[in-house]
Amino acid sequence: MSVEGQRCLCVVVLLIHTVRGAGESPSPPTLPSSSPTLKTEQNELTVSFPPLEDLYGNTPEKHFGTENNTVVTSQTGSTALLPCVIRNIGDGIVSWIRRKDYHLLTVGLTTYSSDQRFQAIHLQHSEDWTLKVRFVQKRDAGIYECQVSSHPPTSIFLRLDVVEARAQISGPTEKYLKPGSTLRLQCSVVQTTEAPAFVFWYHNSRMINYDVERGINVTTDPAQRLSDLLIPAASASHAGNYTCVPNNAVPASIYVHIFNGENPAAMQSSSPSYVRLNLNGFLLPTLVTIYIIR
Ligand SMILES: *[C@@H]1O[C@H](CO)[C@@H](O)[C@H](O)[C@H]1NC(C)=O
Ligand SMILES: *[C@@H]1O[C@H](CO)[C@@H](O)[C@H](O)[C@H]1NC(C)=O
Ligand SMILES: *[C@@H]1O[C@H](CO)[C@@H](O)[C@H](O)[C@H]1NC(C)=O
Repeated sequence: MSVEGQRCLCVVVLLIHTVRGAGESPSPPTLPSSSPTLKTEQNELTVSFPPLEDLYGNTPEKHFGTENNTVVTSQTGSTALLPCVIRNIGDGIVSWIRRKDYHLLTVGLTTYSSDQRFQAIHLQHSEDWTLKVRFVQKRDAGIYECQVSSHPPTSIFLRLDVVEARAQISGPTEKYLKPGSTLRLQCSVVQTTEAPAFVFWYHNSRMINYDVERGINVTTDPAQRLSDLLIPAASASHAGNYTCVPNNAVPASIYVHIFNGENPAAMQSSSPSYVRLNLNGFLLPTLVTIYIIR
């Protein structure tokens, strides 16, 4: 049957029902015991419904689907999501409160805080009333309360931990190399909850990610939070300060010395202060002399 035909049939069936309904005698319907009952008392009409659980056979009690005292960890600068799932909320309204100062952040979908980084996220028909905090800062760490209006109100508490992601270059903070040897620096981004979008390497103040013609090879694996800098044949011009700068983490630096002669790194095993003394008192003047002679 065509769609048109089906529609026609529906209209006809509906009409028959309407006409039959109108023609019936107005005798009161006989109600089953668990249906709504009508009572007339002193000119007042009282309507009482059986408890919902009788109709459904179970208790649709309001309860939280998110575990109480859940901990959420976010890194500074990222977006934190604090979940709050409530089953059978009925006409309850969800509010988020920051406990450290009892600051009311959101009521329903309205943000009450003047800090617009806070927002309640709720999709229609979903049971989730997530609190979204954009550009998380260290001071956002603490306890947050997801409260549902009822008599009395019920709440769960979530803890937001804020970590500061930072870069870390493996090995000591100073490196000593002979000309022609391989310089390999590995930078890892630690304490992260989000992968970096990019990692820049700086040699002193110059960004060197794309300095292939200067013998520099940078490979970054954001998913592994790793970035490698490789200089297969280091020369004196490669000496200096190397800084690894992820877009979403505190940078890290390492100083590279390139020189001919005894490797002072060998002395490092004895005592760091000894190395420092030597560098200042003896090695650095020697280095300077070498460069001047050249
Ligand atoms: C959640 O835990 C707090 C104590 O940490 C308690 O006061 C509160 O009643 C708990 N909420 C629920 C829904 O169990
Ligand atoms: C850069 O190094 C990676 C390995 O770390 C290597 O696969 C790639 O071929 C190198 N690129 C150049 C231009 O040398
Ligand atoms: C290396 O560069 C970084 C970033 O410019 C700077 O913070 C750091 O102090 C420098 N380190 C040295 C030893 O010059």
